[in-house]
Amino acid sequence: MPEVSGLSQAPTHVAIIMDGNGRWANARGLHRTQGHAAGEPALFDVVHGALEMGIEWLTVYTFSTENWSRDEYEVSFLMEFNVDLLERRRDELNELGVRVIFMGDLDDPRIPPVLLDRIRDAEELTADNTKMSMVFAFNYGGRREIVDAVRSIVEDGVDSDAVDEGLIRQHLYIPDMPDPELVIRTSGEQRTSNYLLWEAAYSEYVVTEVLWPDFDRYELARCVEEYQARERRFGGAVDASLGDSSG
Ligand code: FPP
Repeated sequence: MPEVSGLSQAPTHVAIIMDGNGRWANARGLHRTQGHAAGEPALFDVVHGALEMGIEWLTVYTFSTENWSRDEYEVSFLMEFNVDLLERRRDELNELGVRVIFMGDLDDPRIPPVLLDRIRDAEELTADNTKMSMVFAFNYGGRREIVDAVRSIVEDGVDSDAVDEGLIRQHLYIPDMPDPELVIRTSGEQRTSNYLLWEAAYSEYVVTEVLWPDFDRYELARCVEEYQARERRFGGAVDASLGDSSG
């Protein structure tokens, strides 16, 4: 497969809402869970594409704090699928130089212990990798993350005068994670869905109609190009405000 490198100024951090698995499956007369399974090759093609483009952080929304309300079969499928995926893919990610990080509430008793073990294995195996950090937003909610940050600040006994944006940032789940320049949402939905509420405050959003199982590194490159075109227009607008209308 041809590579997708060569794009100028790849964003440092791209975050993705992988949406549309259920609709992809419905359109084919399949069960929704088969849509999730079909999302795995898409995700790994995107990992390869992100590495080729020099993206340093890739965050993917794999399970939200709201997803527990889906039917029991789908929830348990997703839990088992995560276990299976980590077992099958962890060596590949390691060989690619990818550091795996899970971000979310992992203290939730509904998460099967075997999944917590596989998460720990993958994180430990890949901890020293430096090519790219891949963040699995799992049992993640942006509001929950902010609540957890506030709680830990209060528990530390911090004086209210000392609370500022920097301090809140230091108490988010991954303090050294740079804010994403670009958030991509697939399947045409135009919502933030409680994703990276603090971190994406200034992010560009690109919504693509493509359903997640049909997404790949080329669609990733197209989304990055759309983001880069916006960046260039922003440069022009700044010039125009200075009296230069050529941008
Ligand atoms: C949203 O589609 C997707 C999810 C809730 C799960 C994401 C899971 C994958 C992409 C599978 C591969 C990756 C991992 C790490 C397990 P949806 O079900 O909301 O789709 P719909 O809006 O069409 O119903």
